[in-house]
Amino acid sequence: MNDKFKKGFDTICIKDDSVYAPTSHTTPIFASSTFIYESAEKAMDVFRGNEEAFIYGRWNHPNVELVENKLTQLECYAIDDLKAQGYLFSTGMAAIAALFNSVLKTGDTIIAQGNIYGTTVELLNTIIQERGVQVIYTDLDNLEALRELAKASKSLKLIYAETPSNPTINAYDLAAIATIAHECNALMAVDNTFATPYLQQPFAQGVDLIVHSTTKFLNGHGTALGGFLVGRDIDFMKQQVWKQRKLQGAMLAPFDAWLLNQGLKTLSLRMDRHVENARLVAMYLETHTAVNKVNYLGFETHPQHAIALKQMREFGGVISFELKGGLEAGIRLMNRVQLCTLTASLGTADTLIQHPASMTHFNVPKAQREQFGIGDGLIRLSVGLEYIGDIISDLEQGLA
Ligand SMILES: Cc1ncc(COP(=O)(O)O)c(C=O)c1O
Repeated sequence: MNDKFKKGFDTICIKDDSVYAPTSHTTPIFASSTFIYESAEKAMDVFRGNEEAFIYGRWNHPNVELVENKLTQLECYAIDDLKAQGYLFSTGMAAIAALFNSVLKTGDTIIAQGNIYGTTVELLNTIIQERGVQVIYTDLDNLEALRELAKASKSLKLIYAETPSNPTINAYDLAAIATIAHECNALMAVDNTFATPYLQQPFAQGVDLIVHSTTKFLNGHGTALGGFLVGRDIDFMKQQVWKQRKLQGAMLAPFDAWLLNQGLKTLSLRMDRHVENARLVAMYLETHTAVNKVNYLGFETHPQHAIALKQMREFGGVISFELKGGLEAGIRLMNRVQLCTLTASLGTADTLIQHPASMTHFNVPKAQREQFGIGDGLIRLSVGLEYIGDIISDLEQGLA
């Protein structure tokens, strides 16, 4: 990783703004549901919006403001003249719901890839469709077909991508897809959870809105849920998205924001190790006789290797693979591993293993799973920060 990039980026991650508690070295947890005023006049001014101050914990609070300022700066870091506005939410799904709720109205269309996080698919297939929004899944890799589909779609408002994708580890060309969205007067949004702004900055590719599950790499330790939505259109963010958070109440709690801030301080150190360990595990699995296929963007043979090279700084810390023995062999492996933890999340310091078809993507219709490469034999591995020899030994004994 380029040292010049790291220098400023790491400082944003680490340095807390002291305005929150001028005499405290680290930012305290503001365990307060509401905030006080020195006079009735001041309270009136604040409520009327004439003066900025904290009002009520569901609206905003110091722990959230500190981290959303940092994350906004990180997504914009070193991109000339870019300004954006970001908001934290109680979970990644709350941030994704706020995005869909603020952009999509009855009669509108959204185009998304089919291989995205299972609960995002469930949200689109239920609440969003029930509202009368048309949801079209397609392969975002086929740009000509996408352009035709986008042009033919009635009231297209949003193209939604997740890259790298969960759990198939595909990469999609953000700049090209954003261009297509803009040609159709639609917005382009991306779930940047797998990459984090350290490995990929979608704003630099022309994307309009970025969502994160901060539960993953940004927190980094599996200690708290959280979500983040940031957009270039500051007025839209301050009116539509802010309204979603304030009125629907999906606010991140002070302690969870504080935990996120602690994790964020070591983001680049952790990501460097995740990336390196994932590379070594992918290389190990690729040559293993029990393994059929490894999905890892760093392989030159990966169909989207060139796209990943173009828009990512490194190839990420999550891989997926299929065993020759299919699902049965996958279950055997998950039951035999001792160091790798069998659980549904990703992006934590420890290595996590799971079976998407029966766990994270269980609620995606089987036909959609199969169409978009989420086969019954696919295993997802979020490669952690442990000593690499120990991770590989565990997989070795699990596959023996
Ligand atoms: C890529 C991706 N986006 C969004 C989410 C949802 O985030 P959360 O679990 O914080 O609601 C997840 C959760 O696994 C995810 O993997």
